[in-house]
Amino acid sequence: MGDGCAPFKGRCFEGLELTMKSRSFIIGSAVALVAAALAGCAPKGGKTAKVDDARLVAGSPDGADWLSYGRTMDEQRFSPLTQVNDQTVGQLGLEWFSDLDTARGQEATPIVVDGVLYTTTAWSMVKAYDAATGKKLWEYDPKVPRAKLVDVCCDAVNRGVAVYKGRVYVGTLDGRLVALNADNGKVLWDKLTIPKGSHMAITGAPRIVKGKVLIGSAGAEYIVRGYLAAYDAETGKEAWRFYTVPGDPSKPFEGKHLEAAAKTWAPDAWKNGGGGTVWDSITYDPKTNLIYFGTANAEPWNPNARGGKGGDSLYTASIVAINADTGEYVWHFQQTPEDRWDYDSTQQIIAADLPINGKPTRVIMHAPKNGFFYILDAKTGKFLSGKPFAKLITWASGLDPVTGKPNILPEARYEQTGKPFMGWPGALGAHSWQPMSYSPKTGLVYIPANEVSQPYNAAPKGWKPGKVGFQIGLETSKLAMPADPNIRAAAAAATTGSLLAWDPIAGKARWRVEHTGPSNGGTLATAGNLVFQGTAGGEFRAYTADTGKQLWSFAAQSGIIAAPMTYSVKGVQYVAIMVGWGGVYDVAPGILAAKSGSVRNISRLMVFKLGGKAKLPAPPADAKRVLDPPPFTGTAAQADAGSVPYHASCNVCHGDAAIAGGLNPDLRHSAALGNPKLWQQIVHDGLLSQNGMVAWKDQYTPEQIENIRQYVIRRANEDKALEAKGK
Ligand code: HEC
Repeated sequence: MGDGCAPFKGRCFEGLELTMKSRSFIIGSAVALVAAALAGCAPKGGKTAKVDDARLVAGSPDGADWLSYGRTMDEQRFSPLTQVNDQTVGQLGLEWFSDLDTARGQEATPIVVDGVLYTTTAWSMVKAYDAATGKKLWEYDPKVPRAKLVDVCCDAVNRGVAVYKGRVYVGTLDGRLVALNADNGKVLWDKLTIPKGSHMAITGAPRIVKGKVLIGSAGAEYIVRGYLAAYDAETGKEAWRFYTVPGDPSKPFEGKHLEAAAKTWAPDAWKNGGGGTVWDSITYDPKTNLIYFGTANAEPWNPNARGGKGGDSLYTASIVAINADTGEYVWHFQQTPEDRWDYDSTQQIIAADLPINGKPTRVIMHAPKNGFFYILDAKTGKFLSGKPFAKLITWASGLDPVTGKPNILPEARYEQTGKPFMGWPGALGAHSWQPMSYSPKTGLVYIPANEVSQPYNAAPKGWKPGKVGFQIGLETSKLAMPADPNIRAAAAAATTGSLLAWDPIAGKARWRVEHTGPSNGGTLATAGNLVFQGTAGGEFRAYTADTGKQLWSFAAQSGIIAAPMTYSVKGVQYVAIMVGWGGVYDVAPGILAAKSGSVRNISRLMVFKLGGKAKLPAPPADAKRVLDPPPFTGTAAQADAGSVPYHASCNVCHGDAAIAGGLNPDLRHSAALGNPKLWQQIVHDGLLSQNGMVAWKDQYTPEQIENIRQYVIRRANEDKALEAKGK
């Protein structure tokens, strides 16, 4: 029991006392009463952060506060503040910053209530600051075991807190939902939300709707079953759990929607989880009283591992709408039926009023990984429009203009053709979790867009999931980046990112700013005719919202992936951003991660205002590392064999073709490469598991692990030869 709860003093106990009729009743029921008091009296929230439902729904009309993840419940990430505007932004300067005690990807959007800023960092830690001065008020560390890193595809990230009635809520990487006292960060309650022992993880920000805390989980590469769950904000008691994919057919369906969904899966598919996790977007629209959430990919990616031709695999890669009072199914729209490309539909969902065919219509807007921009009727889920926002789409020839269903191209069904398929977009998506924003003033949606491909190839028939790490049913060892400078240059050139100003009504780009590489930060639009975005190359920038002209930039010293936010205290407008490279692109082929420039991680919260004069300390010099591997003495057969487990399991953190992105060690440089015994101790036995490098003994034999070493030694020597030629 955390502090602040006084079940035997104050309101709760007094309430019980009134019902006590006699002494014998008291004695006879003592045990039951204590239990009732404990259950009925949740620890009290703090005196600060007094955010209630009315305040959340109003969404801080003057722009002073940023009360929930996407600022307003419709998650437009549009601020009415205008002090920083297209005329004044040139004077924007750093006012304060805070160095963070973790050097991993920073993805959070801070929340600001009444002059206090709450944010999370990697490893799900929470910090509260005086939003004007930067004075740290308190911090909380949920002490996530570092070995949990093996259950996440894309770094130990966290996207932020929710704040309500004196409490601050955080979902932790190891699957807990924790309520903190907003005054001091003390734990009020701490609940495990994922099934015990499951490979699920929480990276997303909780949302508050009508007294409940909503949270899903990540994990659709690790044999899991997706859901969205709701908890009583005061007590932490689970109110409902909406499963997105059917479970064990020998048990009753947990809802009619699952009975319908079961028809779209092969009978045995549930045994491999199904996926459809709800790891990011959750949007509540008070105008429809619906909660919208996006679901992740179907799993395993390869449909053969889902019991063969399973059909659409509902409700994966979909938007689902449920009743905000009951948590019951209302409608769904599947963006990517029969997903086999990891096309999550989990990206930020924006609700807005748009003129559709001249008629004001409540809609939701969505730009999922699959490359099409969707507008759906918010009330009914009816498809209103869908236009490609990605420059190249190779998996579908387009969408049916009436139903919005994609026309899937036969070559994209790689498990049926038995041939590798080059997917554009790839699994990293034409748009990932980086939030987009919408300005009602310009009518434009600002999308952090990516052009990035991925080769897909089905694992041989009979593939079965193992116990540790990624379990997706692909075999891509022969499709890894070759040591050919021309191919590498072409791949790097084709892989880009941009800030895309999308006109949702016209269904086309109004303007676009090309960035050096992919995986740039989320966006913020303001009434000052500005759009803010950080880049993977480490610059924080402002553009005019109507034309995309760059007006301001700041050298942040580390790649930015998070979204900026803005607030005001005592009439002064501030702009805040979490800085710190990491996340999904750090685990992508290293040469693509490096394309944007600096991929080092220096994690900081930075806050700007007009006339701000704070200075960052000088960054450490980028040390050029020269490859110096032991000579390759293994056989080609050994190294070829080692490439298979490497690209099934290790590439997720150490990079495609053993070229790392910057956060996790680049194995071509590892001292353990020349020490087979140490290599076994690390990889087989888990010598470094406390630092996030787990044991693989439940997945691979010592011989396979030795083959991986030979593969990495060969790779390192190939690249050393390229370096020697100056390539
Ligand atoms: C979930 C992420 C993740 C996966 C997957 C992963 N590793 Fe690691 N690995 C790490 C981290 C983090 C470290 C650094 C640990 C430390 O700092 O002590 C590391 C360190 C290592 C090291 C020591 C590197 C050095 O500094 O000399 C080796 C060797 C290694 N990993 C091999 C592998 C192999 C082989 C696989 C696949 C079977 C694999 N790893 C899969 C995260 C991962």
